[in-house]
Amino acid sequence: MRLAVCSSKGGVGKTSTAANLAVVLAELSSQRHGGRVLAVDADPQDSLGRAFGVVAKTKEDSLAGLLECPDADPRTVLRNEVAPGLDLLPAHPSLEQVGGLLATQGGIVTGIRRVLRPLLADYDHVVLDTHGDLGNLTLSAVCAADAVLTVFTSDPGSALGAARVTAFLDQHRQFENTVAQLIGVACSLWDKDGKAAREVLGALEATDLPLLPTRIPVSRRVPSATLAKRPVVLSAPTSSVAIAYTALARDVLTAYEGVR
Ligand SMILES: Nc1ncnc2c1ncn2[C@@H]1O[C@H](COP(=O)(O)OP(=O)(O)OP(=O)(O)O)[C@@H](O)[C@H]1O
Ligand SMILES: [Mg+2]
Repeated sequence: MRLAVCSSKGGVGKTSTAANLAVVLAELSSQRHGGRVLAVDADPQDSLGRAFGVVAKTKEDSLAGLLECPDADPRTVLRNEVAPGLDLLPAHPSLEQVGGLLATQGGIVTGIRRVLRPLLADYDHVVLDTHGDLGNLTLSAVCAADAVLTVFTSDPGSALGAARVTAFLDQHRQFENTVAQLIGVACSLWDKDGKAAREVLGALEATDLPLLPTRIPVSRRVPSATLAKRPVVLSAPTSSVAIAYTALARDVLTAYEGVR
């Protein structure tokens, strides 16, 4: 599976979801047959790398450099074993400018797909974190993916965002830019006592969007894990939020099997 975690809105929990899913998928793959997972940070904010304490010092040391020089060997830029069975391709703030340039040159659709191509045989799954919009870099990530997960919160705008991601994917599949299917809509920052949260969930349940059963609760352990540079499934594996991320990873695998 090549899974892009996307939303049309920022701050909904994409990076936290991508980081924790990547760790759990890597654990499952390595337990089963020694398989590995690759996490790709396609956001110039480089938060996915930071979730593991990885910061690229230069453009050349990141996805941005590989997009500029597609003949470069991506293995020289990978950070190996950021968690058991998990490697990471970091971002760099220059990715924003590189993405803009690629778009004007006509390489945005194929950019990340080309960078990842020589690596795919080494990994069971690739998890791509994206910027909180449906701009150039998100398009490039989606075009490298075969599955998309979107995340919403109790903010009514984020439910609308799930519909926007669906329309975005439909449009790019129609142009044959991508084969990616929306396999899941995941509830993040779930506030079980909040009226808005229940209303947003109710509105999404009334659609035909593929709502995943697991909800990720609000937990202060998530920001603490970012400070500790270890996703919560590693830093507090028995916490309810870590258990929810583990269940979400299984939901995602089941949903992916369902669309294949
Ligand atoms: N389950 C949670 N409980 C509490 N805080 C959370 C949870 N999930 C994420 N957060 C916090 O919410 C903020 C936004 O989360 P995150 O960075 O994962 O979202 P994002 O969608 O990737 O944002 P951006 O669009 O800026 O990339 C962060 O400060 C993060 O620590
Ligand atoms: Mg993020």
